[in-house]
Amino acid sequence: QATSIPADRVPDLSKRKTLNLLLLGALSLPTAGMLVPYGSFLVPPGSGSATGGTVAKDAVGNDVVAAEWLKSHGPGDRTLTQGLKGDPTYLVVEKDRTLATFAINAVCTHLGCVVPFNQAENKFICPCHGSQYNDQGRVVRGPAPLSLALAHCDVGLDDGKVVFVPWVETDFRTGDAPWWS
Ligand code: FES
Repeated sequence: QATSIPADRVPDLSKRKTLNLLLLGALSLPTAGMLVPYGSFLVPPGSGSATGGTVAKDAVGNDVVAAEWLKSHGPGDRTLTQGLKGDPTYLVVEKDRTLATFAINAVCTHLGCVVPFNQAENKFICPCHGSQYNDQGRVVRGPAPLSLALAHCDVGLDDGKVVFVPWVETDFRTGDAPWWS
């Protein structure tokens, strides 16, 4: 009798196990989602440019040249490249077949999955928990709390290469200060 512990002081193990399982589930799903897309970007870091930006790299690690890119990527296209800090970043082709002056960071603001672009719905739809972003990366459905990050997308005057530069100005989609800088 003297060694028995009152019932209300015994840790509730089953509750704790359930919590651990939930945590594990929440963590492993986005991790699995990240592994595949990131795999194609495991290339050495790109050479910086004179402007302090980063030259965009395509899926096989070559510098992206704007004119070449536009030959094979039509209006409305959003295709992943390697961007600032190695982040997967969408180059955007506008309806008039020019490259947009902004690029969209593909990392979901919920738990970090790489968000694919759904051409049919003209939206970015996260496979992990269903967040949605419009075709400019503005969040339109949670659980993602924020819009996808932006980067400036410039074209080098001398070599025509696509260069990403950090976006520190107001987010034109929301009118807010950029949460990512
Ligand atoms: Fe959860 Fe994208 S990581 S919705």
